[in-house]
Parts: sequence; structure tokens; C-alpha cells
Amino acid sequence: MNISSNTQPIHGNYRGYYTKRPFVHDPRLTLLPTSIFKDARVLDVGCNEGWVTCEIAQSWGARRVIGVDIDDTLVRAAWKRRRTVWSQQEPATHEATPADDHPSKGKKRKKCSEECHEFPRIPRPEYFPASCEHMFSPLPIPAARSPEDAHTFPHNVMFYTADWVNHDIPEDANQYDVVVAFSISKWIHLNGGDEGLRCFFHRVHSVLLPGGKFVLEPQEWETYAKARRMDAKLKENAKSLQLRPEDFERVLSEIGFGPAQHVGITGEGGFRRPVDIYVKTG
Ligand SMILES: C[S@@+](CC[C@H](N)C(=O)[O-])C[C@H]1O[C@@H](n2cnc3c(N)ncnc32)[C@H](O)[C@@H]1O
Repeated sequence: MNISSNTQPIHGNYRGYYTKRPFVHDPRLTLLPTSIFKDARVLDVGCNEGWVTCEIAQSWGARRVIGVDIDDTLVRAAWKRRRTVWSQQEPATHEATPADDHPSKGKKRKKCSEECHEFPRIPRPEYFPASCEHMFSPLPIPAARSPEDAHTFPHNVMFYTADWVNHDIPEDANQYDVVVAFSISKWIHLNGGDEGLRCFFHRVHSVLLPGGKFVLEPQEWETYAKARRMDAKLKENAKSLQLRPEDFERVLSEIGFGPAQHVGITGEGGFRRPVDIYVKTG
């Protein structure tokens, strides 16, 4: 969907979002069990400029990671981000082990053979400084040379433009082990009402494999007030909302998810939010 940069970001489609919440490792991801993405097919709904999507693909051992966003400008920025992340990554000639700043670091160490199996050859992110890309332009992405390459960054990440609440993307047909929805429920709720949000939760359930995990970072109800002032339609929609974020667990259980696992709260100021995991049980 082509959304003009002159209009209000009524879908939360902020440009430069990650300059407002800068990170090396996204603090929301560090709350999750380190094995959650290992060998997983992952969908990141509302991927924005792809920073979280690329981190999952690069540093968490995911097999394939799909980012989808309603705003094509952001999706183009996400493809660019993939190249930036690739340009800064440690060259493959090193026998890489978990990077010093990888979330697994500092946890109880296993024997090397086991550990290498757990985190096989994760090259260091941000090995080269950002200035290299500015001086020499980003590195080209080489063709995948082996089937294993296809499941390693940067070949294991792809982006699509779609209003995912209302439209499938081709990857959905193969289903996912994990669906990530960070800071998007408010925007879906305000644009589509309670029905739109229920539809989103049903869609997540339908694309997850049995036992698959839904990782949700819902925005607090208090933050809806500022968002709805952005646009007359959102303001009107907000009047009919019956559901509140504290109802999401009940709605998800009616759809076929187990109880919420509250893994923590993170973020600064207005970005301070809980992260919850729901397992598809039914
Ligand atoms: C506030 S941003 C959060 C970005 C990212 N998930 C994060 O937390 O780092 C919300 C994103 O969801 C996207 N979005 C909103 N509604 C969407 C929809 N129906 N389908 C796909 N993307 C959507 C917006 O364009 C925006 O990039």
C-alpha cells in the first residue's frame, strides 16, 4: 500500500522509528527465551524499517524471517536495512561463536560442541562501523552458495508490503513457528475496531503451526488517546471500542491460545510496555 509521507502515520507507520528507540539488541527480544527463534519460520507483522526483523534473522538462529508492513516506503527502507546490517557484519572467514554482546553471552556456558550446535557460526553484528558504509557504500549481497546459506542472514530474510490483517502474503501458506507483533495492536484496533483486532488475532492463529508462539507487545489503553487525535476516522472508531488491552488474553484464549506468559516489561518512557507469549493450543 502506497501511503503518502504527507499524511499522518495513522497505522503507526512512523519514518525514522528506530532513531527514536535506538538499540544494539532490541530490549524486547532480550526478554524472550534464547531458543524461541532457533530454526524457526518467523513472521514479524508491522516490521516498519526492518530493524527487529533483521536482528532475528541475523542473531537468533532463525531459519526464515518474513517482515510485512502496510507502508511500502517502510518496506523499501527495510530492504535497505538488510544491506546495512550485512555491510557491518563480521566477514565469514572467522570461526564465529556467539558475539560478545549476543543475548546468550553471560548465560551458563555449555561444552563448545553443544554451544556451536545451539548458535552455529553467528557472525558478530556491527563488526564494521556504520561509517564504512557511508564511505564505501553498502556491500553487495552475494548469491546463496549452498542450501544452508538460504537459512542464514542475509538470505533468510524477506519483506512484503501488505495490510496483513486483511490480505495474505504468499509465505503464509507454509505457516510459521513464531509470529511477532510488537507495538502494532493499538494501530490495528484503532483502524479496524474490535472486529479488526479479533480478525488479526484469528489470522495469527490460522498461520501458526500447532504449538506455534505469538509474541505480543500490546500498547497500553492510555496511549490510545493521543493516537486517536491524529485523525477523524480513528477518533470515530475509538468511540465504539469495547475491548481493552487487558481483555486480549481472554479473546486469545477463546480463539485457541494458552494463557499469557508475561516475560517482562521493557522500554523507556512512552515505550515502556509488556511483552507476552501465547502458545497455539487449539
Ligand atoms: C509503531 S510501529 C512498530 C514497528 C515494529 N513492530 C517495532 O515495534 O519495532 C507499527 C508498524 O505496524 C505497521 N502496520 C500497522 N498496521 C498494519 C497492517 N494492517 N498490516 C501491516 N503492517 C501494519 C505500521 O506501518 C508500522 O510500521
